[in-house]
Amino acid sequence: MEKVVSGIRPTGNLHLGNYFGAVKSFVKMQDEYESLFFIADWHSLTTSPKPEDIQRSARVILAEYLACGIDPERAPIYVQSDVKETLELYLFLNMNMYLGELERVTTFKEKARKQPDNVNAGLLTYPTLMAADILQHRAQKVPVGKDQEQNMEMARRCARRFNHIYGVDFFPEPQNFYFNAEAVKVPGLDGSGKMGKSEGNCIYLRDDDKTIRRKVMRAVTDLGPQTPNSERPEVIENLFTFLRICSTPDAYAYFDEKWNDCSLRYGDLKKQIAEDIIKTVAPIRERIEAFSSDVDFLDRVARQGAEVARESAAATLKEVRRIIGFR
Ligand code: TRP
Repeated sequence: MEKVVSGIRPTGNLHLGNYFGAVKSFVKMQDEYESLFFIADWHSLTTSPKPEDIQRSARVILAEYLACGIDPERAPIYVQSDVKETLELYLFLNMNMYLGELERVTTFKEKARKQPDNVNAGLLTYPTLMAADILQHRAQKVPVGKDQEQNMEMARRCARRFNHIYGVDFFPEPQNFYFNAEAVKVPGLDGSGKMGKSEGNCIYLRDDDKTIRRKVMRAVTDLGPQTPNSERPEVIENLFTFLRICSTPDAYAYFDEKWNDCSLRYGDLKKQIAEDIIKTVAPIRERIEAFSSDVDFLDRVARQGAEVARESAAATLKEVRRIIGFR
């Protein structure tokens, strides 16, 4: 079975867009691949989080991913900082990376622009740490979004360069695995094309029913259908997208007909959408709450995940040391 590894940014507070995008794909992946997921807490140090937030955010994310259906028996989930083997590989790989190529990475340049007073070496070698995350498991595939393309190119370069320098065929070149291709794009509630945290147009998996209703009722619309069977403008099509992902085909057909004969009232449509979103979100929210209150369980999941990850990384490191010349 092919091996898949993916890092999760430790920001937490997933929204519906995350759920129907990355998270659902992760849940599917655990059946089809040998998957390992981890919370990239070391990577978050590049932007100086507060000490008290680090452990808490790992637990928050664990609770959310488990609530969404990640089954730690099939897909171990660990915290990056629990697997120290990564650091040794990070050091080895850094010896083969050049300042020039690291400086040319767009995410580095963007971060350097955003935090000009804190252009630290961790930021510069972010791609090396990410390569170590992946290569320590000799993973073949990595589910990533478009924004990670260059980091993935760097990971492949690390693998290729190591193999070349030592004349071995040890690291496979990890391939990008685009879950976005099959995932549904969840629109924003403000008429924008995409639900995203920054845009304040989100429904979070932790939102209560009342909040969901309020957010949906405030979603952007227009004057209403004017001519029968007309094409829907984007803001309205966005609402229909919610019907498609959260409602029944019957509900979709009903409102589609109403649109086509110009009798659609957006208030009714929004009520339906709100209730159906609640049907999706409420059970997840309840599971998040249940997992969050069982810290022992969360810590056990992370510990077991780390055991699996460490075993896999230790086997790789043993070979790597031998190849480099350490006995
Ligand atoms: N850089 C990734 C992101 O910002 C997170 C990440 C860190 C990652 N290490 C990884 C993703 C290894 C995949 C594999 O989303």
